[in-house]
Amino acid sequence: NAAQDFIAGLPKAELHLHIEGTLEPETAFALAERNGVKLPYASVEAMRRLYDFKNLEDFLDLYYQATQALLTERDFYDLARAYLDRARDENVRHVEIFFDPQAHMRRGVPFGPVVEGLSAALNDAAREGGPTSRLLMCFLRDLDEADALATLEAARPWLDRITGVGLDSAEAGNPPGKFSEVYERARSLGLRAVAHAGEEGPAAYVAEALDRLKVERIDHGVHAIDDAALVQRLAREQVPLTVCPLSNIRLCVYPDMRAHPIQRLFEAGVVVTVNSDDPAYFGGYVNENYRAIQQAFTLGTAELTQLAKNSFSASFLSNDDKQERI
Ligand code: ADE
Ligand code: ZN
Repeated sequence: NAAQDFIAGLPKAELHLHIEGTLEPETAFALAERNGVKLPYASVEAMRRLYDFKNLEDFLDLYYQATQALLTERDFYDLARAYLDRARDENVRHVEIFFDPQAHMRRGVPFGPVVEGLSAALNDAAREGGPTSRLLMCFLRDLDEADALATLEAARPWLDRITGVGLDSAEAGNPPGKFSEVYERARSLGLRAVAHAGEEGPAAYVAEALDRLKVERIDHGVHAIDDAALVQRLAREQVPLTVCPLSNIRLCVYPDMRAHPIQRLFEAGVVVTVNSDDPAYFGGYVNENYRAIQQAFTLGTAELTQLAKNSFSASFLSNDDKQERI
């Protein structure tokens, strides 16, 4: 298929990828066995059969449960290395990876081994054929801000490995403004800022993330489509959205790809990017996400190329590095 080949050949960046969401069931079972941990699923197949999510929270329950397989620095190294190899095979030249330190710290795995394992994998991959990468730590928005502040404090010895902060987990009832103090502190420490907003939550959360958290990009942001003035603002201010099409379908944010607003946002001049979110759970890595929207909206090579260019321009690469790669 010509479109598929074109997508596979496009150099691209991935800016919305939770490393814990790359944990394939086979890997979860292998790591659990290596660690002497018992996962609450009878088999790989039984675990996969649970991948029929009603909404974001339904997914998150399984996603956090599966992290029980991850204990050691080596586990986090292996997890990241497997994803990076796969990304390289899909012509991903640069990736900005989220991780959820609180999901590990609350089950007794300290910050150190998590970040040491991840950053070692990122460095090794960059040296051995790519992709290049950045690490972003997310705060869990269903916990309180004091927990986020303590997590930022725990990260202090490793801030040289971390480019920025993000905000994820259950969105409903957890507005961005709840985290304004920890974001201000993060920015004062030189960290960049992004946040999930407008995934399940309303358009107002997108505006709130911009105004109160001063984020440079919005993760998902699809519900901005419900507010025409906000869409205009995103286009005017060139605020990138890291959109994850397959994720939004699997989590029932939209009933099918034809109903997804990505094409309308793109047409309105928003800097839209295409990403996989949690590819082990949502039925496709990044190229499969490009392919799904290409098919739904019969996108041509010019549009696909623009989306891939957006992924570099929206990244945290230096301006010189962007110029080189676009
Ligand atoms: N954590 C992992 N994936 C997520 C998503 N799509 N939304 C919010 N939190 C997440
Ligand atoms: Zn996400």
